[in-house]
Amino acid sequence: MKAALEALKRSRIFRDQSKLSFDYVPDELPGREEQMDALGRLFRPVVYEKMGQHVLIIGPVGSGKTAVVKRFCSHLSEAGMENRRVIEKVHVNCRTRKSESMVMLSILNHFDQRFPDRGFSIPEMLEILKKHLRKREIHLVIILDEADVLLKRAGSDLIYSFTRLQEEDSDLLGSISLILVSQKRVTDLMDPASLSTFKRTNLIDFGRYTKEELEAIVDQRIELSFQPSCVDPGVSDMIASMAEEYGDARFAIELLEKSGMVAEEKGADTVSPEHARFAKADVKPFVFEETIQQINVHEQIMLLAAARLLRRTAYCSTGELEDEYKAICESLNRKGLGHTQFWQYMKELDAFGIFTAKRSGKGTVGNTTLITIQDVPVTELIDYLEKMLFV
Ligand SMILES: Nc1ncnc2c1ncn2[C@@H]1O[C@H](COP(=O)(O)OP(=O)(O)OP(=O)(O)O)[C@@H](O)[C@H]1O
Ligand SMILES: [Mg+2]
Repeated sequence: MKAALEALKRSRIFRDQSKLSFDYVPDELPGREEQMDALGRLFRPVVYEKMGQHVLIIGPVGSGKTAVVKRFCSHLSEAGMENRRVIEKVHVNCRTRKSESMVMLSILNHFDQRFPDRGFSIPEMLEILKKHLRKREIHLVIILDEADVLLKRAGSDLIYSFTRLQEEDSDLLGSISLILVSQKRVTDLMDPASLSTFKRTNLIDFGRYTKEELEAIVDQRIELSFQPSCVDPGVSDMIASMAEEYGDARFAIELLEKSGMVAEEKGADTVSPEHARFAKADVKPFVFEETIQQINVHEQIMLLAAARLLRRTAYCSTGELEDEYKAICESLNRKGLGHTQFWQYMKELDAFGIFTAKRSGKGTVGNTTLITIQDVPVTELIDYLEKMLFV
């Protein structure tokens, strides 16, 4: 009971944890300026010329597709207001709204919360949608998120009907826009008629985020959701390189939140790179014992040296590593390796994946090699290796 009360006290680490939730969309989306701009250009005629637009957005998991579309639509509504054009949006997730009628129902619920969920055919529901559009004189942006699920299950008939709606009815001209969002290329799931309305130029491709972009995204969340100066320098760089392989902002944000929770559990005042390692090991466990059994004793000593140096930091230099390695050899009464052999083994350790060597980038003088450990908490490595080496 007491523990629960303690845990319910205001956090020393987090200021506003809700800003780390996946539903929260920040005002600015670092690294997606180009895509926002492209959407802006495509939708200009919607604001100024009573026109509809059809856009296809594709990109891998966590590349910001949903966040960008949501943020963009709020900008679009504002621009519309300034031009006395009411632009509204409905966002339908086709993974949860699996059938054509469930998609139609979500759209009609935008106009009428109490619209019955049974008893109407798709053509009837399309007619009702038209009535709403005529009556309200608005422009409706229909976002079909995870559209590949709908296309695979039901084909492209509904999408075709949306694109044709305004062509058949002159007073509905320019009343609907369609944004399809998907991880996979959906064009091969569409029939030629629907495909022809999605011109090639209306495809916006979201690539994976680069390490720099992920770092900017993590920095923004630190600013929004952590107490001031509560996250050590080096943490966002480390999380960004952990997530770089996937280019996935969702994974980076998850690691950041977990790192904060680990810091809290351990009663720390700040979030450190070691907390980030615990977070990574929790999300994607790395069985380091197996690797350690496969490497030779000098490599084991080098790993222990690196782990000791990295207790409080994200990186150490190879010079520091070599000194620490020699010191451990001495305490073990072992003859240390010569410089060339040392470098050879360092490369081998890198190849094992437990340990990463990288050329230093910005902020350091010259071009030295830096060492980091990302997948395993170094305190766990230290415990394990010390037990093994100091018997
Ligand atoms: N550029 C960005 N700046 C800030 N946060 C971002 C950015 N891109 C993505 N995010 C955040 O990362 C998480 C995942 O983004 P989002 O849901 O938009 O990805 P997605 O491309 O739609 O992925 P999926 O294909 O899995 O649906 C969300 O919490 C989102 O707010
Ligand atoms: Mg999404």
